[in-house]
Amino acid sequence: MSQALLSRPARPIVRQTKLLIDNRWVDPVEGGTLETIDPSTGEVIAIVAAGTAADVDKAVKAARRALDHGPWGQIDAAERGNLMFGLANLVEGHAKDLAALESLNCGKTIADSTGDLEGVVNTLRYYAGWADKIEGKTVPVRGNFLSYTLRQPVGVVGQIIPWNFPLLMLAWKFGPALACGNTIVLKPAEQTPLTALRIGELAIEAGFPPGVINIINGYGETAGAAMVAHPDIDKIAFTGHVDTAKIITRQAADTLKRTTFELGGKSPNVVFADADIDAAVEGAFHAIYFHGGQCCTAGSRLFVEKKIHAEFVERLATKAKARKVGDPLDPATQQGPQVSQEQLDKILHYVGLGKSEGATLVSGGERSGDKGFFVAPTIFDNVKDDMAIARDEIFGPVVSVLPFSTFEEVTERANNTSYGLAAAIWTKDIDKAHLFARQVKAGTVWVNCYHVVDTTTPFGGFKMSGQGRENGEAALEHYSETKTVTIKLGS
Ligand code: NAI
Ligand code: MG
Repeated sequence: MSQALLSRPARPIVRQTKLLIDNRWVDPVEGGTLETIDPSTGEVIAIVAAGTAADVDKAVKAARRALDHGPWGQIDAAERGNLMFGLANLVEGHAKDLAALESLNCGKTIADSTGDLEGVVNTLRYYAGWADKIEGKTVPVRGNFLSYTLRQPVGVVGQIIPWNFPLLMLAWKFGPALACGNTIVLKPAEQTPLTALRIGELAIEAGFPPGVINIINGYGETAGAAMVAHPDIDKIAFTGHVDTAKIITRQAADTLKRTTFELGGKSPNVVFADADIDAAVEGAFHAIYFHGGQCCTAGSRLFVEKKIHAEFVERLATKAKARKVGDPLDPATQQGPQVSQEQLDKILHYVGLGKSEGATLVSGGERSGDKGFFVAPTIFDNVKDDMAIARDEIFGPVVSVLPFSTFEEVTERANNTSYGLAAAIWTKDIDKAHLFARQVKAGTVWVNCYHVVDTTTPFGGFKMSGQGRENGEAALEHYSETKTVTIKLGS
């Protein structure tokens, strides 16, 4: 690893560290800062302005002005779309730099960051196209009246995003919000503030009017909580931990804010003996180890039919041991560091629980290297449904293998969780595939594939994995209010 670190490309430049309010880069009222860490080394790479309630209030006032008195509330829907297309083009033009900055700050491999950037551009373009297609209806009411509906923005939306896909989560939040004509106060995760700031610069360059996009970096308990409490924020869109969503729900109750949540998971990935086993091994590996398992849809409960279980685990372990873990900026790297010391500690804690609860450690199970937050790809076999490593979201490169015998058994066990974000099945039997898709309680079901997420299809969770949907037309519902207008015709 030290070799790879020596040969890493020139460090991306951090150009901006302030808060973005009303298209101006400003210092925080209380002068707070947060340290941004390179997770490959643990070293500080930037000191970034950290906002508090006073800054949130300034941003909300700017966002409110932009909506009620600025040009944003008046411009044609098509022009909103044009501004979004402009931003997408700028992001595409700077994709290489943005991907490098993303990898440096959040630790994902440069290949993964490059893929994320494609997703960002696709999302902005997809929703730019929606801007002038969000239509109301005329409704055949009783009596001599004309009734029609208008789709109007919810208002000022607060968006609180995590560190695992900093730019992609920004795009999933910005896209539908801007298409519907809302104004935004965004709070990136405290671990990954850098790429959002660069997007702020590009948004100004694209011509977004002052106050439409405001970016307040800061901590969840201060800046985030202030957004949730602010009476003039109409909606909170949040991605992160279930427990944080519970806090937000309680605190949003006072102002009856709209909330949408995209939360965690413990997604079942079910492999039947009749599957294309080569594809299933590749798929199961990708399902858990993509971005070091720091993915809400990670296939962390791997159910394998008993007939093929021993061979399957052996093949997974061979791949896990060969995985190149190291500097995310080195194109040969397959897995970068976990994002933070906190995440590293959490993962190692669960590895300890897996061992003490009696699961079989087949591979990994330890920190990799002596600096940075790297974890070796880890496999636990013969895991029981009630062990902590089978129940809790670990959010790291740790898979729990659970052998099974029958379709009915595995479907029931797959659903035996408080989560319901994603699920997958590997089989050549079309009946099994469709029956599973119908019976499994999850917002996304993959058949013979995994982690295929596109901006055009709804994404979100059943049960405690979320509320509402992002992506696709579905997200527009959560960023618009429907108004009924009724006119008396004649006398
Ligand atoms: P978190 O839920 O604390 O943080 C996510 C975002 O919420 C950050 O921007 C944070 O500043 C903000 N936040 C935190 N407390 C807040 C509050 N009281 N009010 C308003 N905003 C608040 O998640 P964290 O601590 O970064 O990660 C812990 C675990 O959460 C992970 O190990 C993983 O299991 C899960 N997680 C799930 C994600 C997903 O994609 N569903 C993403 C990130 C984390
Ligand atoms: Mg937290």
